[in-house]
Amino acid sequence: MLISTNYEFSEEQLKDKTILVTGANRGFGRAITIDLAKAGACVIMMGRDLASLESAYDEVVDLGFVEPILYPLDLEGASPEHYEQLQANVLDQIGSLDGLIHNAGIIGTMMPIEQYDIKIWYSTMQINVNAAFMLTQFMIPVLSKSRDARILFLSSSVGRQARAYWGAYGVSKFAIEGLSKTLAEELEKTNIKVNSLNPGNMRTEMRRTAYPAEDSDKNPLPEKKSPAIVYLMCSESGHLNGEQITLDN
Ligand SMILES: NC(=O)c1ccc[n+]([C@@H]2O[C@H](COP(=O)([O-])OP(=O)(O)OC[C@H]3O[C@@H](n4cnc5c(N)ncnc54)[C@H](OP(=O)(O)O)[C@@H]3O)[C@@H](O)[C@H]2O)c1
Repeated sequence: MLISTNYEFSEEQLKDKTILVTGANRGFGRAITIDLAKAGACVIMMGRDLASLESAYDEVVDLGFVEPILYPLDLEGASPEHYEQLQANVLDQIGSLDGLIHNAGIIGTMMPIEQYDIKIWYSTMQINVNAAFMLTQFMIPVLSKSRDARILFLSSSVGRQARAYWGAYGVSKFAIEGLSKTLAEELEKTNIKVNSLNPGNMRTEMRRTAYPAEDSDKNPLPEKKSPAIVYLMCSESGHLNGEQITLDN
């Protein structure tokens, strides 16, 4: 289903909600973080690079929005114990979680499957799929404590329609679509709604890496698309579950 990026929200829309965003330090994750905070949410900003996480944190605070929480974690090296610790921290310090946005990801490399670099394959699957699975598993008990919670998996057009040479990235996004659908069915009768989202092209480092010859100025900034994430986290979108959502341009 297609939803509009032109969503107008109030500064109270996500008041009292706590939402965890992975890859919050730059690209789409940073734009998402700023709009969620602008809409009144407390964002748990997860990322592996502390300097850029702190710079994004400072931007939110300087804008006068709700102060976020920094949570440095490298999703490639994170083990179940790290997610267990996160679960305990969120339960102890906040008590519940209202949203989980799986935004972090890597593009891997463009190569035929026959020659695909095996180390890059493992890294891509670890960050894009295994980390999302483990983080989800440990956050479900915390999301269950919210009255109205969301899990959103960032996907891609190549996770819905296969494209040659997109290798582990495309396969990882197909896996994310499967994870999202399976979980949506399992949690159907609960307070947790689960959807996947193809944000379409955005002017970020990932897009520049995938399309080095393209004039990147032609792509919309991630800030143009992030208001739609506020919609997907708020009570108005509570009827959506198990959807494969696409943002318009
Ligand atoms: N841009 C597009 O046109 C487009 C199109 C379709 C789908 N998407 C999806 O949208 C999402 C965001 O993409 P983007 O364009 O914003 O990408 P990006 O600019 O490359 O940013 C990727 C984010 O993921 C984080 N990340 C990567 N590896 C990590 C690790 N091991 N541990 C923790 N964080 C890690 C990065 O942190 P570091 O700074 O530490 O690397 C960064 O914050 C992705 O899931 C992508 O697949 C993007």
